[in-house]
Amino acid sequence: MDCCCLSAVWYFTLLYLLVHCLCFIFADADLTLLWSSVTGHSPETKLRRLVVWVTGASSGIGEELAYQLAKCGSRLVLSARREDELNRVKRCCLERSNLKEEDILVLPLDLLQRTSHADKAKAAVQYFGHIDVLINNGGRSQRSLFEETSLDVYQALMELNVLGTISITKHVLPYMTQRGSGSIVTVSSIAGLVGAPLSTGYAASKHALQGFFNSLRIELTEYPNILISTVCPGPVQSQIVHNAFTEELNKPVNAPGLQEHKMATSRCVRLMLVGIANGVKEMWIAKQPFLFVYYAWQYVPTFALFLTSKLGRRRVENFRTGLDADATYFTKAKRS
Ligand SMILES: NC(=O)c1ccc[n+]([C@@H]2O[C@H](COP(=O)([O-])OP(=O)(O)OC[C@H]3O[C@@H](n4cnc5c(N)ncnc54)[C@H](OP(=O)(O)O)[C@@H]3O)[C@@H](O)[C@H]2O)c1
Repeated sequence: MDCCCLSAVWYFTLLYLLVHCLCFIFADADLTLLWSSVTGHSPETKLRRLVVWVTGASSGIGEELAYQLAKCGSRLVLSARREDELNRVKRCCLERSNLKEEDILVLPLDLLQRTSHADKAKAAVQYFGHIDVLINNGGRSQRSLFEETSLDVYQALMELNVLGTISITKHVLPYMTQRGSGSIVTVSSIAGLVGAPLSTGYAASKHALQGFFNSLRIELTEYPNILISTVCPGPVQSQIVHNAFTEELNKPVNAPGLQEHKMATSRCVRLMLVGIANGVKEMWIAKQPFLFVYYAWQYVPTFALFLTSKLGRRRVENFRTGLDADATYFTKAKRS
């Protein structure tokens, strides 16, 4: 190869790396998901008329899922504990879409009442005939130090986030295997992949979900048309901090938490729907610098441990002094 040819190869390699670096700096999801959003199927074509069951549909990510799915023309089963809130979400869905009253079933459900789940799944199937997509979204987070937290809180987090989700899945999956198709999408978290101080129980519950669904996916390889997918969002605007568990079961969070540094709910949900429409098996959705942490944890774990212990220490110190631990992860502390 002559000198001119060699420098052209170097030039294009550098250009290629530069473009990728720039893409990464502005990315708000893993590159597979972003690639699907550019070149893949659109949710509007893939999810139209599908029957989608969303748990935790009364607020936050679940509520936004309902709105965007309604706009895509999906038929909906909306579940959470608060029936009045679900009816409000249903009304808003009807206002924002071409769906008709009978296209949305409000199905109140408590993830902790596992004995009711078989009947709830049956009711959804009897109403629509089948379920195409189950989105396991309902759940609660945690803001408390391990040393100060009652074991009851750990039990509650596991009962709700893990067993509640597994129970619904257990009752929906047989309908999907019978038809040979369907999608089970579970909203995990960045805390399902990465350690998260002040959220030891929450992170444990989300890690458990990752392990469960990664294993279930392999068990189901004889059903190539059943998608098992996990979604791992970073901080997203919602009621999650307000509703989080603290040291004691019924003790509320002091401050609801700042929202400005978090990803807009609408963007997170749009990316989730792109992932579902394109069969993405694990979705990382977060603004920078959080997205960098996912990649570091996956590809350079020693560096990631060094970085997260520095950031984690600041988070714990801020929490102890009453500052917003979430908003001050990367930025200078500000009194909330
Ligand atoms: N927002 C974030 O930063 C973030 C980041 C990563 C992952 N996530 C995950 O995203 C999912 C949705 O959270 P969100 O951010 O949208 O929080 P949110 O606004 O607090 O919504 C939580 C939803 O879960 C439902 N829920 C809580 N306990 C329930 C129970 N026992 N039975 C049935 N439903 C229950 C709530 O409805 P009711 O109170 O009416 O029952 C509500 O609809 C959660 O799994 C969370 O872990 C959130």
